[in-house]
Amino acid sequence: MAGCPACPLSLSRTRVVTGVFPAGARVLLVGEAPGAAEDAGGLPFVGRSGQLLDTLLAAAGLARAGLAVCNVVKCRPPANRPPRAVEVRTCRPWLDRQVGLIDPAVVVTLGATALAWALGRSARLAQAHGLPHDFGERVLVPTYHPAAALRFGPRGAPMAALRADLGTVASLLSERL
Ligand code: URA
Repeated sequence: MAGCPACPLSLSRTRVVTGVFPAGARVLLVGEAPGAAEDAGGLPFVGRSGQLLDTLLAAAGLARAGLAVCNVVKCRPPANRPPRAVEVRTCRPWLDRQVGLIDPAVVVTLGATALAWALGRSARLAQAHGLPHDFGERVLVPTYHPAAALRFGPRGAPMAALRADLGTVASLLSERL
């Protein structure tokens, strides 16, 4: 994956951000695409969104160090624009393969791009978030992207939903283990 030339993002990226996959992880978090901090550092969710994610995960009792984390698209889109459909489509085999290899019990999608990867483009975050969905032999829990929580602020709906939905993930995990 590190040298993937398959789409135009390969021309503008600094590096491919493959993800973080601790041995034995039972949860896989899937974001949208690397931002500037991730493109520079090579790790997912290390910028402002990542810092908020860490805080919310800890509040839910989910230690980030034990979770697998990656993105739908592995290379930073220029100026942090959303990834284009063709980029998502081209990158899809990498993510599908990662899910098979990591074999998590629970997949958590963060935001609309990751929800569309999991459930198709007609799925709506406002309806789907926080509800456990069948996802092959896994459980899928869609939630909001931490960038939306930052945008709408501490009293906004995305922050409240993220907190509650990550709590649901923690409960599911304790039931399944
Ligand atoms: N936003 C994402 O979707 N993924 C990252 O890794 C960082 C920010």
